[in-house]
Amino acid sequence: MKNILITGGAGFIGSNFIHYILKEYESIQIVNLDVLTYAGNPENLDTVVQDPRYTFVKGDICDRVLIERLFKEYHFNTVVNFAAESHVDRSITEPELFLKTNIIGTQTLLDIAKHNWSIEPDNKYCREYLKDVKFLQVSTDEVYGALGNTGMFTEKTPIAPNSPYSASKASADLIVRAYHETFGMPVNITRCSNNYGPYQFPEKLIPLMIHNSTQNKPLPVYGDGLQIRDWLYVEDHCSAIDTVLQKGKNGEVYNIGGNNEKANIEIVRLILARMGKDDSLITYVKDRPGHDRRYAIDNTKITSELGWVPRLTFDEGIIKTIDWYLTNTEWMERVTSGDYMHYYEKMYR
Ligand code: NAD
Ligand code: DAU
Repeated sequence: MKNILITGGAGFIGSNFIHYILKEYESIQIVNLDVLTYAGNPENLDTVVQDPRYTFVKGDICDRVLIERLFKEYHFNTVVNFAAESHVDRSITEPELFLKTNIIGTQTLLDIAKHNWSIEPDNKYCREYLKDVKFLQVSTDEVYGALGNTGMFTEKTPIAPNSPYSASKASADLIVRAYHETFGMPVNITRCSNNYGPYQFPEKLIPLMIHNSTQNKPLPVYGDGLQIRDWLYVEDHCSAIDTVLQKGKNGEVYNIGGNNEKANIEIVRLILARMGKDDSLITYVKDRPGHDRRYAIDNTKITSELGWVPRLTFDEGIIKTIDWYLTNTEWMERVTSGDYMHYYEKMYR
Protein backbone atom coordinates (compact mmCIF):
# COMPACT_ATOMS: atom_id res chain seq x y z
CA MET A 1 0.00 0.00 0.00
CA LYS A 2 1.16 3.51 -0.73
CA ASN A 3 1.62 5.72 2.25
CA ILE A 4 2.02 9.19 0.80
CA LEU A 5 3.15 12.50 2.18
CA ILE A 6 1.64 15.14 -0.09
CA THR A 7 2.88 18.65 0.57
CA GLY A 8 0.97 21.73 -0.54
CA GLY A 9 -2.18 19.62 -0.92
CA ALA A 10 -4.52 22.50 -0.07
CA GLY A 11 -3.42 24.45 -3.16
CA PHE A 12 -4.70 24.19 -6.71
CA ILE A 13 -2.89 21.15 -8.14
CA GLY A 14 -2.28 19.43 -4.79
CA SER A 15 -6.00 19.39 -3.90
CA ASN A 16 -6.90 18.09 -7.36
CA PHE A 17 -4.23 15.39 -6.91
CA ILE A 18 -5.69 14.31 -3.56
CA HIS A 19 -9.17 14.00 -5.09
CA TYR A 20 -7.68 12.07 -8.00
CA ILE A 21 -5.70 9.61 -5.85
CA LEU A 22 -8.59 8.92 -3.45
CA LYS A 23 -10.80 8.20 -6.46
CA GLU A 24 -8.24 5.92 -8.13
CA TYR A 25 -6.94 3.92 -5.14
CA GLU A 26 -8.93 2.08 -2.50
CA SER A 27 -5.93 1.13 -0.41
CA ILE A 28 -3.94 4.27 0.28
CA GLN A 29 -3.01 6.59 3.15
CA ILE A 30 -2.47 10.27 2.52
CA VAL A 31 -1.07 12.92 4.84
CA ASN A 32 -1.47 16.42 3.43
CA LEU A 33 1.11 18.79 4.95
CA ASP A 34 0.26 22.39 4.12
CA VAL A 35 1.09 25.62 5.94
CA LEU A 36 -2.00 27.31 4.40
CA THR A 37 -0.59 30.44 2.82
CA TYR A 38 -3.05 32.72 0.98
CA ALA A 39 -3.07 30.05 -1.79
CA GLY A 40 -3.89 27.11 0.48
CA ASN A 41 -7.59 26.56 0.93
CA PRO A 42 -8.83 23.63 3.07
CA GLU A 43 -12.28 24.16 1.53
CA ASN A 44 -10.89 22.53 -1.64
CA LEU A 45 -10.88 19.28 0.33
CA ASP A 46 -14.18 19.63 2.19
CA THR A 47 -15.59 16.50 0.59
CA VAL A 48 -12.74 14.25 1.79
CA VAL A 49 -12.08 15.43 5.36
CA GLN A 50 -14.07 12.53 6.79
CA ASP A 51 -12.33 9.95 4.61
CA PRO A 52 -10.27 7.63 6.88
CA ARG A 53 -7.58 7.47 4.15
CA TYR A 54 -6.93 11.23 4.48
CA THR A 55 -5.21 13.28 7.23
CA PHE A 56 -4.51 17.01 7.15
CA VAL A 57 -1.55 18.49 9.06
CA LYS A 58 -1.01 22.23 9.14
CA GLY A 59 2.72 22.88 8.93
CA ASP A 60 5.70 24.17 7.01
CA ILE A 61 7.94 22.06 4.74
CA CYS A 62 10.88 23.91 6.30
CA ASP A 63 9.94 22.58 9.78
CA ARG A 64 12.42 19.74 10.27
CA VAL A 65 11.13 18.67 13.70
CA LEU A 66 7.55 18.35 12.49
CA ILE A 67 8.47 16.42 9.34
CA GLU A 68 10.74 14.02 11.30
CA ARG A 69 7.82 13.36 13.63
CA LEU A 70 5.44 12.73 10.71
CA PHE A 71 7.85 10.23 9.13
CA LYS A 72 8.13 8.35 12.44
CA GLU A 73 4.38 8.32 12.92
CA TYR A 74 3.18 7.51 9.38
CA HIS A 75 6.12 5.60 7.78
CA PHE A 76 5.73 7.26 4.39
CA ASN A 77 7.08 5.40 1.37
CA THR A 78 6.26 8.20 -1.08
CA VAL A 79 6.67 11.97 -0.99
CA VAL A 80 5.05 14.20 -3.61
CA ASN A 81 6.21 17.77 -3.13
CA PHE A 82 3.72 20.32 -4.47
CA ALA A 83 4.32 22.90 -1.72
CA ALA A 84 5.67 26.09 -3.20
CA GLU A 85 5.25 29.77 -3.68
CA SER A 86 3.91 29.48 -7.22
CA HIS A 87 3.06 32.91 -8.64
CA VAL A 88 5.60 34.66 -10.88
CA ASP A 89 4.24 38.17 -10.20
CA ARG A 90 4.59 37.72 -6.44
CA SER A 91 8.17 36.48 -6.90
CA ILE A 92 8.98 39.82 -8.51
CA THR A 93 7.84 41.73 -5.43
CA GLU A 94 8.89 39.21 -2.70
CA PRO A 95 11.70 36.97 -3.99
CA GLU A 96 13.07 35.89 -0.60
CA LEU A 97 10.03 33.89 0.43
CA PHE A 98 10.33 31.91 -2.82
CA LEU A 99 13.90 30.92 -2.04
CA LYS A 100 13.01 29.80 1.46
CA THR A 101 9.98 27.65 0.65
CA ASN A 102 10.94 26.40 -2.78
CA ILE A 103 14.62 25.63 -2.15
CA ILE A 104 15.15 25.17 1.60
CA GLY A 105 11.76 23.47 1.98
CA THR A 106 12.59 20.94 -0.75
CA GLN A 107 16.04 20.24 0.72
CA THR A 108 14.53 19.73 4.20
CA LEU A 109 12.05 17.17 2.84
CA LEU A 110 14.76 15.38 0.86
CA ASP A 111 17.07 15.18 3.83
CA ILE A 112 14.46 13.71 6.14
CA ALA A 113 13.23 11.26 3.50
CA LYS A 114 16.81 10.15 2.87
CA HIS A 115 17.44 9.60 6.57
CA ASN A 116 14.24 7.59 7.03
CA TRP A 117 14.55 5.54 3.85
CA SER A 118 18.29 4.73 3.89
CA ILE A 119 19.09 1.21 5.09
CA GLU A 120 22.11 2.73 6.93
CA PRO A 121 21.06 6.29 7.78
CA ASP A 122 24.37 7.26 9.40
CA ASN A 123 26.63 5.95 6.64
CA LYS A 124 27.25 8.71 4.09
CA TYR A 125 28.43 6.17 1.50
CA CYS A 126 25.28 4.07 1.71
CA ARG A 127 23.27 4.23 -1.52
CA GLU A 128 20.68 1.60 -0.62
CA TYR A 129 17.13 2.39 0.36
CA LEU A 130 14.06 0.57 1.59
CA LYS A 131 12.07 -1.09 -1.20
CA ASP A 132 9.49 0.91 -3.15
CA VAL A 133 10.26 4.37 -1.81
CA LYS A 134 10.18 7.47 -4.01
CA PHE A 135 10.51 11.25 -3.77
CA LEU A 136 8.69 13.10 -6.54
CA GLN A 137 9.43 16.78 -7.06
CA VAL A 138 6.66 18.66 -8.87
CA SER A 139 8.52 21.16 -11.01
CA THR A 140 7.66 23.37 -13.95
CA ASP A 141 8.51 24.03 -17.59
CA GLU A 142 9.51 27.57 -16.53
CA VAL A 143 12.92 26.24 -15.41
CA TYR A 144 13.86 26.03 -19.11
CA GLY A 145 13.34 29.78 -19.65
CA ALA A 146 11.67 31.17 -22.76
CA LEU A 147 11.35 29.96 -26.36
CA GLY A 148 11.28 31.99 -29.56
CA ASN A 149 8.70 31.33 -32.27
CA THR A 150 9.83 27.73 -32.82
CA GLY A 151 11.13 24.72 -30.88
CA MET A 152 9.98 22.88 -27.77
CA PHE A 153 11.42 22.09 -24.34
CA THR A 154 12.76 18.54 -24.06
CA GLU A 155 14.26 17.09 -20.87
CA LYS A 156 17.69 17.84 -22.39
CA THR A 157 17.00 21.58 -22.86
CA PRO A 158 19.45 23.49 -20.64
CA ILE A 159 17.94 25.11 -17.57
CA ALA A 160 17.76 28.94 -17.96
CA PRO A 161 15.16 30.36 -15.54
CA ASN A 162 14.26 34.05 -15.86
CA SER A 163 12.12 34.94 -12.82
CA PRO A 164 12.86 34.57 -9.10
CA TYR A 165 10.06 31.96 -9.07
CA SER A 166 11.52 29.85 -11.87
CA ALA A 167 15.06 30.30 -10.52
CA SER A 168 13.90 28.94 -7.16
CA LYS A 169 12.19 25.96 -8.83
CA ALA A 170 15.30 25.28 -10.95
CA SER A 171 17.44 25.39 -7.80
CA ALA A 172 15.13 22.88 -6.14
CA ASP A 173 15.43 20.60 -9.20
CA LEU A 174 19.21 20.75 -8.94
CA ILE A 175 19.22 19.81 -5.27
CA VAL A 176 16.85 16.89 -6.01
CA ARG A 177 19.23 15.80 -8.77
CA ALA A 178 22.18 16.10 -6.37
CA TYR A 179 20.50 13.82 -3.80
CA HIS A 180 20.12 11.22 -6.54
CA GLU A 181 23.67 11.55 -7.87
CA THR A 182 25.44 11.80 -4.50
CA PHE A 183 23.30 9.57 -2.30
CA GLY A 184 21.55 7.38 -4.88
CA MET A 185 18.15 8.52 -3.66
CA PRO A 186 15.15 7.26 -5.69
CA VAL A 187 13.73 10.49 -7.10
CA ASN A 188 11.83 11.83 -10.08
CA ILE A 189 11.29 15.36 -11.26
CA THR A 190 8.24 16.29 -13.34
CA ARG A 191 8.15 19.53 -15.34
CA CYS A 192 4.67 20.46 -16.38
CA SER A 193 3.30 23.28 -18.50
CA ASN A 194 0.53 25.71 -17.39
CA ASN A 195 -2.37 24.01 -15.61
CA TYR A 196 -5.99 25.12 -15.52
CA GLY A 197 -9.12 23.71 -13.91
CA PRO A 198 -11.10 23.86 -10.64
CA TYR A 199 -9.73 25.38 -7.39
CA GLN A 200 -7.10 27.65 -8.99
CA PHE A 201 -6.48 30.83 -7.05
CA PRO A 202 -7.69 33.84 -9.10
CA GLU A 203 -4.28 35.51 -9.28
CA LYS A 204 -3.53 33.22 -12.27
CA LEU A 205 -4.64 34.11 -15.80
CA ILE A 206 -7.70 31.90 -16.39
CA PRO A 207 -9.57 32.19 -13.05
CA LEU A 208 -8.68 35.89 -12.83
CA MET A 209 -10.18 36.60 -16.25
CA ILE A 210 -13.29 34.54 -15.49
CA HIS A 211 -13.76 36.32 -12.17
CA ASN A 212 -13.27 39.80 -13.59
CA SER A 213 -15.65 39.20 -16.46
CA THR A 214 -18.39 38.04 -14.07
CA GLN A 215 -17.90 41.37 -12.26
CA ASN A 216 -17.67 43.41 -15.49
CA LYS A 217 -14.21 44.51 -14.34
CA PRO A 218 -11.35 45.21 -16.81
CA LEU A 219 -9.38 42.15 -17.94
CA PRO A 220 -5.69 43.12 -17.51
CA VAL A 221 -3.67 41.71 -20.42
CA TYR A 222 0.11 42.11 -20.03
CA GLY A 223 2.02 43.75 -22.91
CA ASP A 224 0.68 42.79 -26.34
CA GLY A 225 -1.07 39.63 -25.08
CA LEU A 226 0.73 37.51 -27.66
CA GLN A 227 2.77 35.52 -25.15
CA ILE A 228 2.20 31.79 -25.56
CA ARG A 229 1.59 29.17 -22.89
CA ASP A 230 1.04 25.42 -23.34
CA TRP A 231 -2.09 24.53 -21.35
CA LEU A 232 -2.95 21.25 -19.61
CA TYR A 233 -6.13 20.38 -17.73
CA VAL A 234 -5.18 19.80 -14.08
CA GLU A 235 -6.57 16.24 -13.91
CA ASP A 236 -4.26 15.26 -16.77
CA HIS A 237 -1.33 16.62 -14.76
CA CYS A 238 -2.50 14.47 -11.82
CA SER A 239 -2.65 11.31 -13.94
CA ALA A 240 0.83 12.07 -15.29
CA ILE A 241 2.27 12.38 -11.77
CA ASP A 242 0.57 9.12 -10.83
CA THR A 243 2.11 7.46 -13.92
CA VAL A 244 5.58 8.70 -12.96
CA LEU A 245 5.08 7.41 -9.40
CA GLN A 246 4.17 3.97 -10.79
CA LYS A 247 6.59 3.66 -13.68
CA GLY A 248 9.17 6.49 -13.59
CA LYS A 249 12.78 5.36 -13.77
CA ASN A 250 14.79 6.53 -10.75
CA GLY A 251 16.67 9.78 -11.26
CA GLU A 252 14.78 10.73 -14.42
CA VAL A 253 13.09 14.00 -15.35
CA TYR A 254 9.75 13.84 -17.20
CA ASN A 255 8.20 16.77 -19.08
CA ILE A 256 4.39 16.91 -18.95
CA GLY A 257 2.24 18.75 -21.46
CA GLY A 258 -0.64 18.25 -23.84
CA ASN A 259 0.38 20.21 -26.96
CA ASN A 260 -2.08 23.05 -26.41
CA GLU A 261 -0.22 26.24 -27.24
CA LYS A 262 -2.39 29.35 -27.02
CA ALA A 263 -1.68 33.07 -26.99
CA ASN A 264 -2.98 34.78 -23.84
CA ILE A 265 -5.27 37.08 -25.80
CA GLU A 266 -6.89 34.08 -27.51
CA ILE A 267 -7.78 32.64 -24.11
CA VAL A 268 -9.12 35.95 -22.84
CA ARG A 269 -11.34 36.31 -25.92
CA LEU A 270 -12.54 32.74 -25.59
CA ILE A 271 -13.55 33.33 -21.95
CA LEU A 272 -15.42 36.52 -22.84
CA ALA A 273 -17.27 34.77 -25.66
CA ARG A 274 -18.32 31.86 -23.41
CA MET A 275 -19.56 34.36 -20.82
CA GLY A 276 -21.53 36.29 -23.44
CA LYS A 277 -19.44 39.45 -22.91
CA ASP A 278 -17.79 41.60 -25.53
CA ASP A 279 -14.09 42.45 -25.93
CA SER A 280 -14.47 45.99 -24.53
CA LEU A 281 -13.47 44.62 -21.08
CA ILE A 282 -9.97 43.81 -22.40
CA THR A 283 -7.42 46.30 -21.02
CA TYR A 284 -3.80 46.17 -22.08
CA VAL A 285 -1.53 46.93 -19.09
CA LYS A 286 2.23 47.31 -18.56
CA ASP A 287 4.06 44.04 -19.23
CA ARG A 288 5.44 41.75 -16.51
CA PRO A 289 9.19 42.44 -16.11
CA GLY A 290 11.25 39.62 -17.66
CA HIS A 291 8.08 38.12 -19.17
CA ASP A 292 8.82 34.78 -20.89
CA ARG A 293 7.48 34.96 -24.44
CA ARG A 294 6.66 31.36 -25.19
CA TYR A 295 6.61 27.91 -23.52
CA ALA A 296 6.02 24.61 -25.33
CA ILE A 297 6.52 21.12 -23.95
CA ASP A 298 7.77 18.15 -25.94
CA ASN A 299 6.04 15.26 -24.14
CA THR A 300 7.61 12.46 -26.20
CA LYS A 301 9.46 10.90 -23.26
CA ILE A 302 6.49 10.44 -20.90
CA THR A 303 4.14 9.35 -23.69
CA SER A 304 6.50 6.89 -25.37
CA GLU A 305 8.38 5.51 -22.34
CA LEU A 306 5.61 5.51 -19.71
CA GLY A 307 2.49 5.37 -21.90
CA TRP A 308 0.82 8.47 -20.39
CA VAL A 309 -1.65 10.39 -22.54
CA PRO A 310 -3.71 13.47 -21.68
CA ARG A 311 -7.48 12.85 -21.81
CA LEU A 312 -8.90 16.31 -22.40
CA THR A 313 -8.42 18.63 -25.36
CA PHE A 314 -8.12 22.32 -24.57
CA ASP A 315 -11.56 22.99 -26.07
CA GLU A 316 -13.16 20.46 -23.69
CA GLY A 317 -11.10 21.49 -20.65
CA ILE A 318 -11.69 25.22 -20.92
CA ILE A 319 -15.47 24.84 -21.16
CA LYS A 320 -15.45 22.48 -18.16
CA THR A 321 -13.31 25.00 -16.26
CA ILE A 322 -15.38 28.10 -17.04
CA ASP A 323 -18.54 26.22 -16.11
CA TRP A 324 -16.97 25.07 -12.82
CA TYR A 325 -16.20 28.66 -11.78
CA LEU A 326 -19.65 29.83 -12.83
CA THR A 327 -21.24 27.06 -10.76
CA ASN A 328 -18.98 27.53 -7.73
CA THR A 329 -19.56 31.23 -7.24
CA GLU A 330 -19.51 30.93 -3.44
CA TRP A 331 -16.01 29.40 -3.55
CA MET A 332 -14.91 32.33 -5.69
CA GLU A 333 -16.57 34.89 -3.42
CA ARG A 334 -14.85 33.46 -0.35
CA VAL A 335 -11.36 33.40 -1.89
CA THR A 336 -11.71 36.87 -3.37
CA SER A 337 -12.75 38.61 -0.18
CA GLY A 338 -10.35 40.11 2.38
CA ASP A 339 -6.66 39.84 1.55
CA TYR A 340 -7.28 39.19 -2.13
CA MET A 341 -8.71 42.68 -2.59
CA HIS A 342 -5.61 44.13 -1.00
CA TYR A 343 -3.37 42.06 -3.30
CA TYR A 344 -5.38 43.07 -6.35
CA GLU A 345 -5.10 46.77 -5.51
CA LYS A 346 -1.34 46.48 -5.01
CA MET A 347 -0.64 44.55 -8.23
CA TYR A 348 -3.00 46.25 -10.66
CA ARG A 349 -3.40 49.80 -9.33
P1 NAD B 1 -0.62 26.91 -5.33
O1 NAD B 1 0.03 28.21 -5.06
O2 NAD B 1 -2.05 26.88 -5.72
O3 NAD B 1 -0.48 25.98 -4.04
C1 NAD B 1 0.69 25.91 -3.28
C2 NAD B 1 0.34 25.25 -1.94
O4 NAD B 1 1.57 25.12 -1.19
C3 NAD B 1 -0.63 26.07 -1.09
O5 NAD B 1 -1.62 25.22 -0.55
C4 NAD B 1 0.25 26.63 0.02
O6 NAD B 1 -0.44 26.85 1.25
C5 NAD B 1 1.31 25.54 0.15
N1 NAD B 1 2.57 26.02 0.73
C6 NAD B 1 3.25 27.15 0.37
N2 NAD B 1 4.34 27.27 1.14
C7 NAD B 1 4.37 26.19 1.98
C8 NAD B 1 5.26 25.75 3.00
N3 NAD B 1 6.34 26.45 3.31
N4 NAD B 1 4.98 24.61 3.65
C9 NAD B 1 3.85 23.89 3.34
N5 NAD B 1 2.98 24.27 2.40
C10 NAD B 1 3.22 25.40 1.71
O7 NAD B 1 0.29 26.19 -6.41
P2 NAD B 1 -0.12 25.19 -7.58
O8 NAD B 1 -0.45 25.97 -8.77
O9 NAD B 1 -1.04 24.18 -7.05
O10 NAD B 1 1.30 24.51 -7.84
C11 NAD B 1 1.71 23.35 -7.11
C12 NAD B 1 3.10 22.95 -7.57
O11 NAD B 1 3.09 22.68 -8.97
C13 NAD B 1 4.15 24.03 -7.36
O12 NAD B 1 5.33 23.40 -6.93
C14 NAD B 1 4.33 24.66 -8.73
O13 NAD B 1 5.64 25.15 -8.88
C15 NAD B 1 4.08 23.46 -9.62
N6 NAD B 1 3.54 23.76 -10.97
C16 NAD B 1 2.43 24.56 -11.11
C17 NAD B 1 1.89 24.76 -12.38
C18 NAD B 1 0.67 25.61 -12.60
O14 NAD B 1 0.32 25.89 -13.75
N7 NAD B 1 -0.03 26.04 -11.56
C19 NAD B 1 2.50 24.15 -13.50
C20 NAD B 1 3.64 23.36 -13.31
C21 NAD B 1 4.13 23.16 -12.03
O1 DAU C 1 4.36 27.10 -16.94
C1 DAU C 1 4.05 26.62 -15.66
C2 DAU C 1 3.80 27.79 -14.74
O2 DAU C 1 2.55 28.35 -15.12
C3 DAU C 1 3.81 27.41 -13.27
O3 DAU C 1 5.10 26.96 -12.91
C4 DAU C 1 3.41 28.60 -12.39
O4 DAU C 1 3.30 28.20 -11.03
C5 DAU C 1 2.08 29.12 -12.87
O5 DAU C 1 1.73 30.28 -12.13
C6 DAU C 1 2.12 29.45 -14.36
O6 DAU C 1 2.98 30.60 -14.60
P1 DAU C 1 2.58 31.76 -15.65
O7 DAU C 1 3.32 32.98 -15.30
O8 DAU C 1 2.64 31.27 -17.04
O9 DAU C 1 1.00 31.88 -15.25
P2 DAU C 1 0.04 33.14 -15.05
O10 DAU C 1 -1.34 32.59 -14.93
O11 DAU C 1 0.53 34.06 -14.00
O12 DAU C 1 0.16 33.88 -16.45
C7 DAU C 1 -0.14 33.22 -17.68
C8 DAU C 1 0.13 34.22 -18.79
O13 DAU C 1 -0.85 35.26 -18.72
C9 DAU C 1 1.47 34.91 -18.69
O14 DAU C 1 1.98 35.11 -19.99
C10 DAU C 1 1.15 36.24 -18.04
C11 DAU C 1 -0.24 36.55 -18.55
N1 DAU C 1 -1.10 37.33 -17.61
C12 DAU C 1 -1.25 36.88 -16.34
C13 DAU C 1 -2.03 37.57 -15.44
C14 DAU C 1 -2.17 37.09 -14.02
C15 DAU C 1 -1.77 38.47 -18.08
O15 DAU C 1 -1.65 38.85 -19.25
N2 DAU C 1 -2.55 39.15 -17.18
C16 DAU C 1 -2.69 38.77 -15.88
O16 DAU C 1 -3.40 39.47 -15.10
